[in-house]
Amino acid sequence: MMKGESRVESQESRVEGRGTPDPRLQTLDYPLCTMKILVIHGPNLNMLGKRDQSLYGSKTLEEVNSLLQEQGKELDLDVVPFQSNHEGTIIDFIQSESPQAAGIIINPGALTHYGFSLRDALADTGLPVIEVHLSNIHAREEFRQKSVIAPIARGQISGLGWQGYTAALKILAGQVKGI
Ligand code: DQA
Repeated sequence: MMKGESRVESQESRVEGRGTPDPRLQTLDYPLCTMKILVIHGPNLNMLGKRDQSLYGSKTLEEVNSLLQEQGKELDLDVVPFQSNHEGTIIDFIQSESPQAAGIIINPGALTHYGFSLRDALADTGLPVIEVHLSNIHAREEFRQKSVIAPIARGQISGLGWQGYTAALKILAGQVKGI
C-alpha cells in the first residue's frame, strides 16, 4: 500500500460510516501527500558547466537538479525543478505550480537585478522563497549587488556554489514542516 493511501481510506470510512477506522491508521503523522518545493532557475542557468566555471562551478544544471531531487527524497519532499530563459515563462510556471507547492527556491539569474514582474509573481504566491546565487553577487559588478527579489524572500544565499541550493533546501524543509 502506498504511503498516504491508508490515511485516505481511514477518512473515507469515517465519512461514509463504513465501520470504525483502524486505530493504527489514525496515529500516522505524515501528510496526505508529499510537499512540493519548486526549484526555479532563470536565464542562462541552462548553461551551467559551460559558463565561467570560476564563477558558477563545474556542475551542470542536470547534476544540480539531481542532487536536489535526491536530497528531497531524504527530506520527504518532492523537488520540482524548472529552468527558462524567459521571465514570462517563469511567471507562468509560478502561477500554475505554486498553488500545489509549499515553498520556492529560486536563482533568478540576471532577473535578480531588474525582474519586477518576477518579484511580484513570487510575492503573490505567499509561499516562503529562498533566493540562491552560485557566485557572490555582493563581490561583483555594482549592478549585480542589488537584488529586487531579496526584499520578498525569506533570505538569500550567495557565493556558496551548488551547495547554496542544498543549504536552501535543508532550511526550507525545516520551515515548511515547522521543525
Ligand atoms: C547568478 C548571478 C547573476 O548576477 C547572473 O546574472 C547569473 C547567475 C549566480 O548564480 O551567481 O546568471 O544568479
